[in-house]
Amino acid sequence: NTNGLKAGKTRNIIEKIEEAGKNCIIFYGSQTGTAEDYASRLAKEGKSRFGLETMVADLEDYDYDNLDQLPEDKVIFLFSLLTSADPPLGTLKYVTFGLGNNTYEHYNSMVRNVDKALTKLGAHRIGDAGEGDDGAGTMEEDFLAWKEPMWAALAKKMGLEEREAQYEPIFGIVEREGLTKESPEVYVGEPNKMHLEGSARGPFNAHNPYIAPIVESKEIFNVKDRNCLHMEVDISGSNLSYQTGDHIAIWPTNPGQEVDYFLDILGLTEKRNTVISVKALEPTAKVPFPTPTTFDAIARYHMEICAPISRQFVATLAAFAPDESSKAEMTKLGQDKDYFHEKVSKYHYNLAGLLRTVGGGQRWNNVPFSAFIEGLTKLQPRYYSISSSSAVQPKKISITAVVESQLIPGRADPFQGVATNYLLALKEKQNGEPNPKPFGLTYEICGPRNKYDGIHVPVHVRHSNFKLPSDPSKPIIMIGPGTGVAPFRGFVQERAKQAEDGENVGKTILFFGCRKRSEDFMYESEWEERKKALGDAFEMPIAFSRDGPKKVYVQHLLKERSKEINELLEKKAYVYVCGDAANMAREVNTVLAQIISEQRGIPEAKAEEIVKNMRASNQYQEDVWS
Ligand code: FAD
Ligand code: 2AM
Repeated sequence: NTNGLKAGKTRNIIEKIEEAGKNCIIFYGSQTGTAEDYASRLAKEGKSRFGLETMVADLEDYDYDNLDQLPEDKVIFLFSLLTSADPPLGTLKYVTFGLGNNTYEHYNSMVRNVDKALTKLGAHRIGDAGEGDDGAGTMEEDFLAWKEPMWAALAKKMGLEEREAQYEPIFGIVEREGLTKESPEVYVGEPNKMHLEGSARGPFNAHNPYIAPIVESKEIFNVKDRNCLHMEVDISGSNLSYQTGDHIAIWPTNPGQEVDYFLDILGLTEKRNTVISVKALEPTAKVPFPTPTTFDAIARYHMEICAPISRQFVATLAAFAPDESSKAEMTKLGQDKDYFHEKVSKYHYNLAGLLRTVGGGQRWNNVPFSAFIEGLTKLQPRYYSISSSSAVQPKKISITAVVESQLIPGRADPFQGVATNYLLALKEKQNGEPNPKPFGLTYEICGPRNKYDGIHVPVHVRHSNFKLPSDPSKPIIMIGPGTGVAPFRGFVQERAKQAEDGENVGKTILFFGCRKRSEDFMYESEWEERKKALGDAFEMPIAFSRDGPKKVYVQHLLKERSKEINELLEKKAYVYVCGDAANMAREVNTVLAQIISEQRGIPEAKAEEIVKNMRASNQYQEDVWS
């Protein structure tokens, strides 16, 4: 696998570490960018506090069959590493932290397995094996709590002395006089050179989006602070393909207001279009966006400027505060978890929001810009469950997204998500509508260099294992309240087509749930159409949670139909659950085990075992998020 590696670069980790003159290596395996972010932060901290010469490496870029030859004075950190190394690893010292989500079946199992395997091979773990839980929303705090005792243990084991931490920038920023944002070599949001040169081509993937035309976008409900969007993008101009049940990644842009706040509080408004080059001062660090570029483009297209801020980053910024009282406040926020919650997290403040509050509006223009590149995460694409069937429309992908504004007591404006509001703005642009919402965010949706006309969106496709049985006569039970119904729209479309094509289609039950029939019943008329094709094979029990005196949820309806559900499971019906991971998916799992237990007269523990086996054999599949 040569992913991400230029020709000629070594995949031999020992060679690399020697060549780069390092004595510590931090590996990360990252899907969302968080592990990469934590790895960089640790590398920096190790250097500034203990003088550790550290490199950060993507697990995909190296081979691991010579870890036994790692010299004794080296240490490795593992973020979710899966290894097949099997020679005894007596000289290997390591540290682990897993990034997981307790609402998923295999919570941190990868890092646990690696830890077990390494110990068995004689390697020495330093400190506790850390675990962060995204499901409980405590990832950052879990990381911070694990980190301190780990450093103490590491310093002891390696005989390192702690020194006064000094901020040293990882990136050098050089202003490029003579270049303007109009210069052809300047990146103003283009993700890579091909896009800059107007010659974007496939393969389209997480490094290279396809700028897809939006061929349809509409609201399928709109109540108070919630809208549901249905959008269709055309992939026929690309070599992209998808299968029913896959995910589409949307590459969002930060809202204009937030870009303005960010640049303003850093004192960069006047320089927003100044062209800069950014160079890594560390041989193993990577600049997370292409340059030369502008401050505006970095804030708008490349960094998560709206996301929650890490407490560690706040502590770093204290040294550059505009006055002593702001410095004291930032130091306290950095140290005191409860105080941080009370002042920052509770209001969902992002970086600009925090800096405005702490400094009383003073500009934070003493902070080296490198600190922001290091302290903020790279802007991530957001995934959506594709809501169309590839058998029905192979070159058109549909998305179903709920846009919600969250009112937060004590905060003037409602909190709004980045990608969902970007999709809403695209819809408004495509339909020539004014931005109607009182707190509507505006986006630079014409895209980089105004090349796209605002009715295009950067995307790529991620294949998933959430798949219909290959034999259409197999019965299926789908459970998808709210936006969880998205992939099932595709599933039902596909089954209806199979029926129309004369195939024998098995029982197709969709358990859907929403608040009120008159409010958020999604795709109401479409289901009627599908029913015409599928006849009695298709059923759609609906749980309206706010229409009656009592909350009714999808799992209550499952329970009401216990006998039938059990019979279908005995006939090897496939079960699909999509939507909220935190509560719904878990409760559905419990209810299914209860149904099996009651109907078959077996103990609950045994029934749970059966459900587990159903998962293992793909008879029970989940597409869930929190
Ligand atoms: P973001 O800006 O990323 O915010 C997301 C959440 O993070 C916020 O609600 C808030 O809780 C927290 N947050 C963000 N910033 C802050 C802050 N400064 N302070 C405190 N908290 C903060 N969604 C759909 O609508 N339809 C789908 O079909 C769908 N399918 C999905 C499939 C998969 C596999 C996955 C992983 C997710 C799916 N999602 C789907 C969710 C979707 O990817 C996005 O997460 C969702 O649309 C929100 O993105 P956003 O950019 O608008 O919100
Ligand atoms: P509620 O908001 O009225 O509580 C889609 O979001 C639907 O899922 C809504 O009707 C919502 O109901 C419901 N819902 C909320 N929590 C749930 C849970 N734990 N299990 C199943 N459905 C749930």
